[in-house]
Amino acid sequence: MKISSLQDLLLDQLQDLYDAENQLVKALPKMAKAALSSELRQAFEHHLHQTQGHVERLERVFEKLGSKAKRKTCQAMKGLVEEGEELVNAKPDANVLDAGLIGAAQKVEHYEMAGYGTVQTWARQLGQEEVARLLQQTLAEEEQTDEKLTQIAEDMVNLQAVGAASR
Ligand SMILES: [Fe+2]
Repeated sequence: MKISSLQDLLLDQLQDLYDAENQLVKALPKMAKAALSSELRQAFEHHLHQTQGHVERLERVFEKLGSKAKRKTCQAMKGLVEEGEELVNAKPDANVLDAGLIGAAQKVEHYEMAGYGTVQTWARQLGQEEVARLLQQTLAEEEQTDEKLTQIAEDMVNLQAVGAASR
């Protein structure tokens, strides 16, 4: 697609995000399966559910913009997912596996937050308030997920500190 206007650029980046979300729908069940702590597994499962919602929300966005929902391979998400898989395949010790999974997932969330922040701004500039509102909803859920992951990581650090103190 030739990109000659902000509207074209918006559609191009929405296709990228649409592909990224679809990649995540496949990757999150694997991450949930790999997670050792039940809290982390549940967080991944909850986010899988949200991510399916993000795919549907993007379909509504395309519809509102009078365009077909189309995927354009998101190379960045491909790389992030591959790095997560590499980590799992390297079979790290049980005490650090979850920490690695959280790190991989937070990179994904920050990538998505940057993407949604950008398209939301462009939608607003184009006067597409309803589209901007939908994109904002997803952005808020990505931010909540990122915060939840930080909280799980901090809980793990605290638990280890307690364990070390009682040894
Ligand atoms: Fe998402």
